[in-house]
Amino acid sequence: SVLLVSTPYIQISTDLFLRPKIQCQNDFIEYNSTVELTCSCKGSIESFTWTNDSKIIEPDGKRFTVKSKLTITDVQRYDLVGPIVCTAANSLQKESSAKFNLTVYYGPEDVTIKTSAPLKFVPSNSNFNLTCSASSKPAATFTWFYETKQIQATGPVLTLKVIEEQGFGHTLGNYKCVAQNDKTKRSVPSTAVQFSVMEAISGITLSGPKGILIADNSSAKLSCQATQGNVTDRVWLKDGKPLSPDSHVKFSNDSSSISIEVLKKEDNGEYICQLSNSVSSKEANFTMVVVYGPESPVVKGDKEVQLKTRVELTCSVSSVPPAKIIWKLNGTVIPGETKDTLIYNNIEYKHSGTYTCEASNELTGKSTNSPSLSVTVKENIDEGLSDGAIAGIVIGCLVAVGAAIALFFYCRGKVP
Ligand SMILES: *[C@@H]1O[C@H](CO)[C@@H](O)[C@H](O)[C@H]1NC(C)=O
Ligand SMILES: *[C@@H]1O[C@H](CO)[C@@H](O)[C@H](O)[C@H]1NC(C)=O
Ligand SMILES: *[C@@H]1O[C@H](CO)[C@@H](O)[C@H](O)[C@H]1NC(C)=O
Ligand SMILES: *[C@@H]1O[C@H](CO)[C@@H](O)[C@H](O)[C@H]1NC(C)=O
Repeated sequence: SVLLVSTPYIQISTDLFLRPKIQCQNDFIEYNSTVELTCSCKGSIESFTWTNDSKIIEPDGKRFTVKSKLTITDVQRYDLVGPIVCTAANSLQKESSAKFNLTVYYGPEDVTIKTSAPLKFVPSNSNFNLTCSASSKPAATFTWFYETKQIQATGPVLTLKVIEEQGFGHTLGNYKCVAQNDKTKRSVPSTAVQFSVMEAISGITLSGPKGILIADNSSAKLSCQATQGNVTDRVWLKDGKPLSPDSHVKFSNDSSSISIEVLKKEDNGEYICQLSNSVSSKEANFTMVVVYGPESPVVKGDKEVQLKTRVELTCSVSSVPPAKIIWKLNGTVIPGETKDTLIYNNIEYKHSGTYTCEASNELTGKSTNSPSLSVTVKENIDEGLSDGAIAGIVIGCLVAVGAAIALFFYCRGKVP
């Protein structure tokens, strides 16, 4: 305050007034409220000035009226960001109010719903969630809806757990949030997002026949099941290649099982069933063992072999389980030789003769003899040219050609 000093005593002006105060009545709602700020000050005031962030507020002839009262019709949130100060003045004195912030409630606006992943099919029990946001003062509260049914949840995040706990999600449908502002009493819905919850496939098993399967006699049924999840696709593979129905492989209507009638030796192999839906894919396998054979054993080896060298004969035969082998020389069993290769490290004359192998399958009870291979052991056999000999000849020829060319040029130099 201003003191007027005169001698010999102090006189306090009757016009002195106290610091003005900005007063307002209630909450302001954007677009709906007329703001009325009163610069309240007792005393004889000649003028009132209002400033917003130190800039003088001028009347605009429309929404802003500036006197001892500052009036703004249909107030907007950015009208006065503040701080607002009113200053009262007369010829002797000038006093400013404390800083005042105008609170204008608004919204909700820009109500946006987002999913944590852009999925149409959401795996059950995953971390999926929905988030709702809105521009609002005070902060909006949210409610959630599946189609027209309200989901019991509050807060800006709706988790899949809550959706599933309340039994929603198993059919494709629309989810939305509604943002609500307690001050403006406005409620605004978001757009809708659409998805359905799908249970992942688990507990897959591929079961097949248990006993021994004999070619041209047994048949087999393979059945593929999952304990959980709704399966939308079933694919069968054999040895990594897609299996499709044919004259002896039949698929059930839903492809959950296949029947093979009658089994052939070619049906041996690894069977895989793959079950999938939009959120998962699982597979299981079964190894089919079809017993057959032995079929057409053949003895392979050289017909003429050199004395004192290493010689190998092999007996190749097709059989499941692998055939038992017996080797024979001139029709007599060679004792102790039961592998599919017969090896002599140092072959002798007495090993000449006709070799056969006999293959037997203990499960089919069949046995078969190979055609015979006659092997002759010789002192020296003509094995053709060795690699070293071939290399020697090639080098010899090159040297000869080189010499001829050199001679040609030498002679041309000498003969006129
Ligand atoms: C705001 O004004 C509109 C009309 O302009 C009215 O419909 C609405 O109810 C008002 N809202 C509040 C909270 O007063
Ligand atoms: C007004 O708002 C400003 C920032 O926006 C803040 O620093 C200040 O404390 C507020 N004043 C009052 C009186 O609320
Ligand atoms: C085929 O199976 C029948 C019994 O189902 C059996 O009597 C027969 O011996 C089998 N044949 C062969 C080749 O295993
Ligand atoms: C097998 O027979 C051939 C001729 O038929 C004979 O030369 C050879 O010595 C015989 N080998 C044995 C081990 O009896």
